[in-house]
Amino acid sequence: MSNLKPFPKDFLWGGATAANQIEGGFDAGGKGLSSADMVAYVPKSERGAHSAAIEIDSQRIEDILSGAFQGRFPKREGIDFYHTYKQDIVLLAEMGLKMFRISIHWARIFPSGYDELPNEAGLQFYDDLFDEMLKHGIQPMVTLCHYETPLGLTQKYNGWAGREVIGHFLRYAETVFKRYQHKVKYWLTFNEINMITMHSPFTGGGIVIDRVPQAEQENVKYQALHHQFIASALATKALHEIIPDGKMGCMLARLHHYALTADPQDQRLAQWGNQQNLFFTDVHARGEYPRYMLRHWAENNVRIHKVLGDDTILKQYPVDFISFSYYMSLAVTSHEDVEKTAGNLIGGVKNPYLQASDWGWQIDPIGLRITLNDMYDRYQIPLFIVENGLGAYDNVEADGTIHDDYRVDYLRAHIQQIQEAITDGVDLIGYLEWGPIDLVSMSTSEISKRYGFIHVDIDDDGNGSRQRRRKDSFYWYKKVIASNGADLS
Ligand code: BG6
Repeated sequence: MSNLKPFPKDFLWGGATAANQIEGGFDAGGKGLSSADMVAYVPKSERGAHSAAIEIDSQRIEDILSGAFQGRFPKREGIDFYHTYKQDIVLLAEMGLKMFRISIHWARIFPSGYDELPNEAGLQFYDDLFDEMLKHGIQPMVTLCHYETPLGLTQKYNGWAGREVIGHFLRYAETVFKRYQHKVKYWLTFNEINMITMHSPFTGGGIVIDRVPQAEQENVKYQALHHQFIASALATKALHEIIPDGKMGCMLARLHHYALTADPQDQRLAQWGNQQNLFFTDVHARGEYPRYMLRHWAENNVRIHKVLGDDTILKQYPVDFISFSYYMSLAVTSHEDVEKTAGNLIGGVKNPYLQASDWGWQIDPIGLRITLNDMYDRYQIPLFIVENGLGAYDNVEADGTIHDDYRVDYLRAHIQQIQEAITDGVDLIGYLEWGPIDLVSMSTSEISKRYGFIHVDIDDDGNGSRQRRRKDSFYWYKKVIASNGADLS
C-alpha cells in the first residue's frame, strides 16, 4: 500500500498563460501598446543560445514607433485567443481544468497606463472571458502584471523606475478588483517579480536601461523593484477591502541552486544563489527586507530611496499565499573548467545527474519536492505552483495525432514529487501547468517551443491554419484531473 497522502479533495488542477503570449489583438478594442508589443522575433540563427531580444534599448523603441524598424512581433499575435477564446475554453473544459490562469493586459484597461478612466471595451473583453470560464466550471486566476507594462509608462516615467507608477498600478488594480469582484477570487500581482533585477528590467518593469547612467543602473533596478513591492502590498490591501474573500499571491521564478561539489565554497555559493532567489518572497511574505540583502546592497553601493511609511506598508500587507514557477534547477561552483547550461532567467553549470530539455533547461522533478519543502518550512503559508511544464518540439503525424510522451513523462515525474511533498506536510493549493494550449515563448518568441496539451497550428514565422488539435498529453491530463492525481499512468 502506498504511504502517499492523496491530493487534497479541492486541489486546483489547471493551466496558466499570459495575455501577451496568447491573446493577439494587440490594437483591438482600444488597447494601447505594451512592453511585450516591442519584442520582435529573432530567428535562432541570429540569437544566442537562450534568449531573443527581450531587453530593448531606446533606439529600438524609437525605430519601432517611427516605422524605421520593420520586424515581426509574435507577442502581438499570440494564438489569436482574443478572437478564439470561446472555442479554446471549451477544449480546456473538456480536459476538466478547475482553474485557468490568465493575465489581464494592463494596456487593454488603461491604454497608456496613466489614463484617468478605464477603457470599457477592454473591461468588457475580460468580463466575457470570465463568464465563459465560469460557465464551463473553470475558476479564473488573474495575474495583474505579466511582463506587460503599458508603453506609455515607459515613455513617461521609464516604467517602474518612476514611483508615480505605483499610483497608476493601484488605479488599474482597484478598477479590475471592483469590476470582477464576483468572478475572480485568486489574484497575483507581478509575474516572476525577480525578472526585473535578475534578467530583463524592460520585460520585468518597462525600464529602458540605457536611459539610466551606467553607474546608476543597478540601483534603478532595485528602486523599481521596491516600487513593485510597495504596489503589491497596497494592491493586497485594496483586494482585501474590495473582495473580502479574495486571495492575493506573489509570484517568483523559483530557481533552486545546488552546489556542484561538497567544497564549502560551492555550498556557500549555492546558499547565496538561493538567498538571492528567495529574497523576493522574503519581502512579500515576511514584509521586510532580509539582512543578507541589506549587507549585499551596502557592499555594492545600492541605495533604495524609501518614502516615510514604506516599511509599515510592507509589514502590514503581506501576501496570502506564495506562488511560483518551477521548470528546472541550477548548479553552481567556484571551480573553473565546467560546462555551462542555459535556464529560465539565468543559467548555471551543467549538473551531471540531470537531463536537459532541447533548450538546455535541466529537468529536475526531485528539485520540486525540495523547493516545496524549503519554501513551506520558511514561510508556513499556503503555496501554489502556478507554472510547470516542458517546452519541446512536437511532431504532427500524417493523421493529425501528436504523440508527446516526453511531455507526459516530465509532468508525471513532477506531479509524483508534488505528492511526496504533500505527504511531507506541505500545504499546496493547486498545480497549474504552463501553457495548456500552445503559446508564444516568453524568452524566444518561438511557438515551436511548445508546452501545450492542445496543439496550435502556427509556425515560428507566423504561418499556419491556427487549427487546434488534442495531443496525447491532453487525454493524460484529463485522466489525472478526473482521478484527482490518483491515476498518473
Ligand atoms: C516563465 C514565464 O518564465 O516561464 C512565462 O512566466 C514563460 O511567461 C515561461 O512563458 C516559460 O518560458 P519560455 O521562455 O519557455 O516561454
